[in-house]
Amino acid sequence: MKNTKRCCILLSSLWLSMMLLLTGCKGTERETEKGSIRIGVSLYRGDDTFINNIRGELEKCAKTYEQENSMKINLDIQDAKGSQNTQNDQVDRFISLGCDVLCINLVDRTAASVVIDKAMEAQIPVVFFNREPVEEDMNRWDQLYYVEAVAKESAVLQGNIVVKQYQEHPESLDLNGDGVVSYVLLEGESSHQDSLIRTEWSVQTLKDGGVPIEKITGGIANWERSQASALMEQWLEKYPGMIELIICNNDDMALGAIDAMERAGISGISVVGIDGTTPGLEAVENGKLLGTVSCDKERYAGAIFTMAVSRAVGEEIPPEIELDEGKYYYCPQQIVIRNR
Ligand code: BGC
Repeated sequence: MKNTKRCCILLSSLWLSMMLLLTGCKGTERETEKGSIRIGVSLYRGDDTFINNIRGELEKCAKTYEQENSMKINLDIQDAKGSQNTQNDQVDRFISLGCDVLCINLVDRTAASVVIDKAMEAQIPVVFFNREPVEEDMNRWDQLYYVEAVAKESAVLQGNIVVKQYQEHPESLDLNGDGVVSYVLLEGESSHQDSLIRTEWSVQTLKDGGVPIEKITGGIANWERSQASALMEQWLEKYPGMIELIICNNDDMALGAIDAMERAGISGISVVGIDGTTPGLEAVENGKLLGTVSCDKERYAGAIFTMAVSRAVGEEIPPEIELDEGKYYYCPQQIVIRNR
C-alpha cells in the first residue's frame, strides 16, 4: 500500500498546485466543476481470480484517494464476460456517461483498434492492462498506456523455483530416481501473449539450470481451475506413476491440478504456478504448491489507478510510475516459496 499511498499523496499535491495555478487544461476545468473523476473499467472476465485480485486493489486505491483528497472517484467496473462485443458496448456507455478515462482489460487483444477508435474520437485516454494490444495499436495515439507483469520474467522466476528445488532436493522431483524429471504443462489461452512466452521460458530456464527434463504431455486449460482439473484427471489415469512435476502458466490451473490429485488420492508431485493470487499464496503456505511468482498487485493496480487519475485531470504521469517508451508499466515480481 505504501507505494500507492505515496502516489496518491503526490497526486494530491499535484492536484492542489493545479487548482492554484488554474492551468486551464481541459481535464482540470471539467474536474474542478464536478469535484469528481469518473473511471470506466472493463474486465475481460469478472470471474478470473487474478483479475479479481486487481479489481479489489483498484477499489482500495479509489477509497484511499477519496480519503486523502477532496475528490469523488466514480469507479464504474463492468464485466465483459468474455465477449468483445459486450466490452465495446461498455466502452460506448462509459463514453456516454462522460468518463474521464478508461481502464480496459481487453477480451480480444487483437481487437483493441475498436476501443481505440472510440476513445480517440471522444478524446478519452485509455490504460490497458493484462491483455496487451499489439504494438501497432499502441502506437496509434499518445494517450494509450499499458500495465502488465512481464511474461518472460514470470517464467524465468518460475523456472528458478524448480532449479533451486532440484539442486537442493533432486529426489523430491525425480521421484522414481531414473535421472530425469518427467513433467506435464498446463497452458493459458492460446491467444494470450503470456501463455506462449511463459511456457517457452519456464522450460528453457529448467534446461539452462541443469534440470534433466522430459515432457510427458501438455494442454491448454485457458487459465481455468476446472479445465486444468479435468485435463489433469485424464493425465493421471493415462500416465500412472509417471508425472513428477506439473508446470502451470498460472495459479488457478495449478490449483486445478492439485484438485485432481486430491480426488485421485495422489500426493508428492511438485506443482508450480504464476500470479500469487490469494488462493495461490495459501496453497504455497500450506505446502500444496511448491511455489509461485507473485507480481505486486498493490503496485500493479496502483500504477493503473495513478495513471488513470493523472490523465483524467490532464496531468503528467508522476515519475514514480516508471514508464517504458512513455506508455508501458511493468510491475515487479518475486518468487514465493514456503517458509520452512
Ligand atoms: C494471469 C492469469 C489470468 C490471465 C487473464 C494472466 O496474466 O496470469 O491468471 O487468468 O492473465 O488475462
